[in-house]
Amino acid sequence: MARPSETYVCQSCGAVYSKWMGRCEACGQWNTIELEQDSAPPGPAKGAAKGGKSLRLDGLDGETPAEKRLATGNGEFDRAVGGGLVPGSALLVGGDPGVGKSTLLLQVTAGLARGGVRTAYISGEEATAQIRMRAKRLGLQKSPVGLAAGTSLRDILATLKAEKPQVVVIDSIQTLWTDTIPAAPGTVTQVRACAQELVRFAKNVNCVLILVGHVTKDGQIAGPRVVEHLVDAVLYFESEAGRSFRILRAVKNRFGAAHEIGVFEMTSDGLREVTNPSELFLSETEADVSGSAVFAGIEGTRPVLCEVQALVSPSTLGAPRRAVVGWDSARLSQLLAVLDARCGLDFGRHDVFLNVAGGLKITEPAADLAAASALVSSLFDAPLPQKTVVFGEVGLSGAVRPVPQMEARAAEARKLGFKGLMAPRGVEGGKLGVANFETLADAVVWLKRMA
Ligand code: TYD
Ligand code: MG
Repeated sequence: MARPSETYVCQSCGAVYSKWMGRCEACGQWNTIELEQDSAPPGPAKGAAKGGKSLRLDGLDGETPAEKRLATGNGEFDRAVGGGLVPGSALLVGGDPGVGKSTLLLQVTAGLARGGVRTAYISGEEATAQIRMRAKRLGLQKSPVGLAAGTSLRDILATLKAEKPQVVVIDSIQTLWTDTIPAAPGTVTQVRACAQELVRFAKNVNCVLILVGHVTKDGQIAGPRVVEHLVDAVLYFESEAGRSFRILRAVKNRFGAAHEIGVFEMTSDGLREVTNPSELFLSETEADVSGSAVFAGIEGTRPVLCEVQALVSPSTLGAPRRAVVGWDSARLSQLLAVLDARCGLDFGRHDVFLNVAGGLKITEPAADLAAASALVSSLFDAPLPQKTVVFGEVGLSGAVRPVPQMEARAAEARKLGFKGLMAPRGVEGGKLGVANFETLADAVVWLKRMA
């Protein structure tokens, strides 16, 4: 056996170094680099490239067996994974401790089991008695889920070989260890080795593998980021502090749309599906408050309405404050610069706060016009016209540009009883009263007139 080599591995991103450093050059984190022993020395073995057998090259239009997805019966989960689970695929569900990953996956496996799918739920964090208690609380104790507690990869693989489940949940990947590697459990090397082994096994036997991974901000536990490129889909389960709803977000998906979201609410008896997220995100909207604009966004494939809130107040600071929640601060700076240069509105002596209500994170440029309207509304201290939805991208020239899926956005607004629409040129809006804008300056003039 090769002599174990010593490597230093960043516990946050998995970058490998030959010596210790205080700060990881790859991800910029401090104090995350630790000594790990790796039995496989890096680099290819001598002579490994010889003696292979030639692969057959096929055309693109060959026969493909129809892909049969396993529906979990949980609409929001199925939506987030792209319409059910694909046999032989591997998924990573990441999230902060306590967000509800175990609860969600127990509900999902129970749903599958009730539908006649052979499932296994293997926990390295909780004893089977604890999981049973949770299942009882969730009213799932009658579902035929195969439950086991274990952390040894060897045992788990043996179990999977014997039981042949169609779907297996491993909760969590950080608790697993394999004795083929001297590194401690929870280190990047262990996490990666165990994940690799499990993914290979799942692909071979056409079983769905769902790995749970904790994300910690301080980098104490090996981040599941090293696992991300081993799996077919990466989903993050997120919550906003103090809120009961949870968003399951696909950040990578080989078998579906990335950025698709599933929305849930954590209740006393488990996670409840939220089938109309717009209603949830708008439920707390106050009418007639300045600085608030409702944005019609697209999350994955579905339109979702949410409120963008701005507060602009005179600043006593030399360098006024700029703070954002759920929004990109560079994009806020850009909007403020455009409002200044193209519309003559100076925010230079004001603190500016921009929030996306309800814990959504908006990355779509389509939200520019909504954010700008909220900012202008707060600056003028004049609310937007009631029941109005806004979308449109704002360019550096101050032009309001069309965005994808404008009719779907307008349709969602109509469905939820909105009356008006601020949008780029060319949007009809049906029964909605539409104000079309070519430039942000036009929108500012219009808002001033409506005030
Ligand atoms: P859990 O699924 O254990 O989180 P994770 O696996 O991501 O660490 O969920 C833990 C939290 O969820 C805990 O704070 C209690 C809460 N919870 C409920 O509010 N209702 C429920 O029915 C359950 C099972 C948990
Ligand atoms: Mg858990």
